[in-house]
Amino acid sequence: MSYVINDEVLNEIRDKAEIVDLISEYVDLKKSGSNYMGLCPFHSEKTPSFSVSQSKGIFHCFGCGVGGDQITFIMKRENLGFRESIEFLADKYNIVLQENTNVNKEITDKKNRAYSANKEAAKFYFNNLRKSKNAYNYLLRRNIDHKTITRFAIGYAPDSWDSLYKYLKGLGYKDEELEEFNLITKTKNGNYIDRFRNRIIFPIINYKSKVIGFGGRVLDDSLPKYLNTRDTIVFNKGKNLYNLNLVSKESNRKKIILVEGYMDVISLYKSGINYSVASLGTALTEDQAELIKRYGEEVYICYDGDSAGIRATKRAIDVLISKNISPKIVNLKEGLDPDDYIEKYGKFNFEVELKEGLNYLDYKIVKIKENYNLETSEGLSKFTSEAAKVLAGVKNPIEQDVYIDKVARKYNVSKDAITSYISILNKNNKFKFKNISQEKDKEIITKIDKNFIEARQKAELQIIKYALYSEQNYEAIYEYIKPHEFKSINCRIIFEELTEIYNAHEDAKNILDNLKEKKLIDDLFIKELKYADIDIYNSEAVIKELISTIIKDELEENRNKILIEIKSLDKDNLSQEEILRLKELIEKLNELNTKLKISQ
Ligand code: CTP
Ligand code: MN
Repeated sequence: MSYVINDEVLNEIRDKAEIVDLISEYVDLKKSGSNYMGLCPFHSEKTPSFSVSQSKGIFHCFGCGVGGDQITFIMKRENLGFRESIEFLADKYNIVLQENTNVNKEITDKKNRAYSANKEAAKFYFNNLRKSKNAYNYLLRRNIDHKTITRFAIGYAPDSWDSLYKYLKGLGYKDEELEEFNLITKTKNGNYIDRFRNRIIFPIINYKSKVIGFGGRVLDDSLPKYLNTRDTIVFNKGKNLYNLNLVSKESNRKKIILVEGYMDVISLYKSGINYSVASLGTALTEDQAELIKRYGEEVYICYDGDSAGIRATKRAIDVLISKNISPKIVNLKEGLDPDDYIEKYGKFNFEVELKEGLNYLDYKIVKIKENYNLETSEGLSKFTSEAAKVLAGVKNPIEQDVYIDKVARKYNVSKDAITSYISILNKNNKFKFKNISQEKDKEIITKIDKNFIEARQKAELQIIKYALYSEQNYEAIYEYIKPHEFKSINCRIIFEELTEIYNAHEDAKNILDNLKEKKLIDDLFIKELKYADIDIYNSEAVIKELISTIIKDELEENRNKILIEIKSLDKDNLSQEEILRLKELIEKLNELNTKLKISQ
């Protein structure tokens, strides 16, 4: 939905969302003179340099330089877009936003009709669950308690042809719209019947808490086991994930687990693991990968252990890697899915499995192993040479050593055998596999490259100029960079507005003046943007170059963070946990190095 965002709304938000109050929910603030001080939530520090001015309604960090108002604070802290942040604050402080009637009024209206019809349908299903002993007992048999039923708004579509249809008609919904929202279907005779009949219903709710579709499961072994809402004006399977609504609100967004099914999410949640999402029975899409990236730092894939699950895992790894996410893979024993696993072994064991999740290198080795019988000497030697090939590609020597050790122990192969295979491979590829020197890493830690930070800022500014120049440029950029990936809040706001404008098929020519009027970006910045130094004859090539600068910087930044943490673990007497963390960091470092192609 699109809302009117004018001075009035912005002032109301800035008034009502008292800044010290708001930020205190995230940062421990102490009064200091006329301001409040605390530890900056945007960079790690031991002495407070993050200051909030109540009278001016702004925050500023003297350490890392971030600053802004309530809206930009929420953008950064909750990782939301600027419109989303405004909605977030409006919700929180009971500010009524007005719908934007200019923007595709018809579409917005229809979407709202769909949301409300879906919500009514969800209520209907939910209320019917209690009326059906059969359905209720089915859930109880699967150990889903009342609290969980309510949390996920699980319902039941009665065993009748048209009870939902009649109910929604009674509320004033029309045949055509209900059919379009895929709540009913037309039969050959021209009658309307409910899409879901005699099924347990799982409403699919988006991060804005709107019901966008449903999944329905049979109560027995009949087929199809699950039926889902087709794509509608508000539902696109490949662009959503099940449970995003709760993950966005309840989880701490450190970890996120990708599972296959509704019941997996629900079982995990019930056991206290509130950070899983399901890909709604499709192969993971790039859009879904973007969502995952937004809602969790460490990504785990925990699909079913059957052959379809393994195929889906391999595909999901590729999609995630293409989005610069290095997933860990959890292979549950006995081919169990997370739901069955939790039932059988409980939360504690599941968390152990997560901890032992394989990075995708390990996963490759596991898959190699499955092709050979390690009991035979031939199988063992083939396995060893293939595993060595994978390990020879690991560029960081410490990490390589950790891996060799791990593989040797796990598969009971000789460490010397692997090492000698690797050294043979290395001799043959002398120039291919150079080890990165640790000295170089340390250098990077101590001297964070100032030029690079500037390069990123310049690149963002330039790329925004190109985006403003034409919709075609904008599209080319959007393919690789999404609004929330801009570091500069000014650039982010502009890019987000452009997205909004182009989605509504509107003209973007007044965008800068509008943003300036609303005091969303400052004059100085606009002046910079208006300095027309773009090369319109080579825009495609320049844009490509700029995109790669930005992506590279993003990777560099992640790498620096990891190096700093590794450095903090550079001491004697590491605990078991710290050793594990160190190994994990080294794995991540290597992945980033590979992506950045740092080879000396
Ligand atoms: N799925 C689907 N349509 C089907 C079968 C499956 O959309 N005909 C999707 C559903 O989202 C389902 C997921 O794929 O949750 C995984 O399917 P499956 O492993 O067969 O089901 P489970 O999640 O294990 O469900 P249950 O435990 O209820 O059998
Ligand atoms: Mn299952």
